[in-house]
Amino acid sequence: MPSKPSANPIHTAVDVILDTAYQGIDAQAWDGLFAQAHKSGLEQFITDLFAGKHVNASENRAALHSALRNLSKSPVLLDGEDVMPAVSDVWRRIDSLCNQWVGVTDVIHIGIGGSDFGPRLAIEALSHVPGLQSRGMRMHFLSNIDTAELARILQRAQPNSTRVIIVSKSFTTLETTMNAKAVVNWLKDNDCTSGQIAHSLFAVTANIAAAKTFGIEEDNIYPFWDWVGGRYSVWSAVGLPIALQYGFKTFQDFLAGAHAMDLHFRSAPLEENLPVIMALALLYQQQTHDIKSFAAIPYADALDGFPKWLQQLDMESNGKRVGRDGKPVKFSSPVVFGSSGSNAQHSYFQLFHQGTETIPIDFIAVRKPMSDRPEAVAHHRILMSNCLAQAQALAHGKDAKNPNEVYPGKRPSNLLLLPELNAFYLGALLALYENRTVALGALWNINSFDQPGVELGKVLAKPIEQALASGSDAIEAGDSIDDVTAARINYLNS
Ligand code: F6P
Repeated sequence: MPSKPSANPIHTAVDVILDTAYQGIDAQAWDGLFAQAHKSGLEQFITDLFAGKHVNASENRAALHSALRNLSKSPVLLDGEDVMPAVSDVWRRIDSLCNQWVGVTDVIHIGIGGSDFGPRLAIEALSHVPGLQSRGMRMHFLSNIDTAELARILQRAQPNSTRVIIVSKSFTTLETTMNAKAVVNWLKDNDCTSGQIAHSLFAVTANIAAAKTFGIEEDNIYPFWDWVGGRYSVWSAVGLPIALQYGFKTFQDFLAGAHAMDLHFRSAPLEENLPVIMALALLYQQQTHDIKSFAAIPYADALDGFPKWLQQLDMESNGKRVGRDGKPVKFSSPVVFGSSGSNAQHSYFQLFHQGTETIPIDFIAVRKPMSDRPEAVAHHRILMSNCLAQAQALAHGKDAKNPNEVYPGKRPSNLLLLPELNAFYLGALLALYENRTVALGALWNINSFDQPGVELGKVLAKPIEQALASGSDAIEAGDSIDDVTAARINYLNS
C-alpha cells in the first residue's frame, strides 16, 4: 500500500462520492487498468447494453432494465420497437393503484430471488428514512418454501384486509406458486368469498398466461418483460410495494436516482466512471492478490439487506467458469458477503485484519444520521468514526513484537459516501452496483444476464420429492438419484 494515496482517489457521480485511496493502486497502475478497460471494448459494451443489443447472447435477449427507470421517456429501441410506451403504461397503472388501496392493513409479497431481494431491501431501507410518509401497511415478504415464514405471516395478517402480490418473472417457480396457493387457501379458510379473493390477488410477471391460469384477473396483472433479468427487476412493477407504501412519487424518486446513475455510466469517460472504477479496483485486486472473497459493509442499519441483494446480483450474474466464448475464464465473481457495521466489526472483522486472505471491502457510509432521535448526531459520529478507523487500520496495519498482535495491513477498501439515505440515493446506490456488476462481466468476458447453473438442482429435486412422497425406505439409486442421496432419502423416510 503506498504511504501516500494514489493520484485523485476521489470520484463523484450523482453526489455519491467514491474514495479509492485505500486500494493501494498507484497512478501508473490505474493507467494500466484504464488501458486494459479500453482494450477490452468496455465502452462499446456499454453502448450496446443501452442500445438494446442482445448482450445476453445465450438467451438471445437484450438487458434493458435501464429502460424501466428511464424517466425521460426518450425512446429505447428493442429490435426496432420503442419499449417506453409499455413501460410508461405500467407506471400509470402503478400510480392509479396507489390511490385505490383504502383500508388495506397487510400486503403479502410472494416471490423469491430477484423477485424478493430488491423490494424487501427497499421497504426496509425506506422505513428508516426520517420524515418519509408511509401508509403504514404491514408489508410481509414470503419467499421460502419452508412454512416457518408462511406461518409467521399468516398469524399476523388480517385476511379481510390483506392484499397479495405474487411476483415471479417465470410464474413457474415452485416456492412462489406453492406459497401463493397456501395463501389463497388461508383466505378461503377465513371465509373470504371468491369475489373478495379475486379482488385481493395481484401478479407481477413476464408470463401473463400462467398468472391468468392461476386465477389472477387480467386487470390485476402487472407485466414485465423477458429483457429484464430477475435480479435487475426491482425497477419494474416488482418494486410495487415501494409505491404502495410510500406513494408513487417516492417510487419515481427511486427510479430517478437510478436513472441519474445510468446517465453517468453511459456517458462518463471510463477514467471518471464510478461503476467502471469500482470494477477495475476489484480486477486489480484479483490480478495482484489471490482474491476469493469481497465484502460490502454498509455503515447504516437501514442497508443491512444490501449485501444479500448484492450477493444475488454479483454471484448469479458473474459466478461462471466459462466466458461468452465458452472458454474458461481467468477471473469471475468472488464470494460476496457482508452486513451492516458497526455490528459486523464484532463478528468477522477479526479475519479482515489478521486472516490469511486479503478481502477487498466496500465501506458504504451515509453522511446524515438515519433517525431524528435526540441521540442521533452523537451515535452517528461514532458510527462514522468506526467506519473510517476500520478502513485506516486495514490499510496500514500495525507492527508488534508478538506475532499474534501484528496487523499486516495492505488490506484494500473503497469508501462510498451517500449524502443521505432516501429513495433517490437508494436508487442511485443500487444502479451503481448493477452497472459495476455488468462492467465486471464485460471485463471478465462473462455474460452477466443468464444463470444456467441454477437449473440442475431444480431438475434433480423432482424425482427426490417423489421418492420422499412415496414414504418408502427402500429407495435404490437409479438414473437421477445416486447411492448417497438414496441412502439419505431412506433415513428421512424411515
Ligand atoms: O432460480 C434462480 C432464479 O431463476 C433467479 O434468477 C430468479 O431471480 C428467481 O429464481 C426467481 O425467479 P422468478 O421470478 O421467475 O420466480
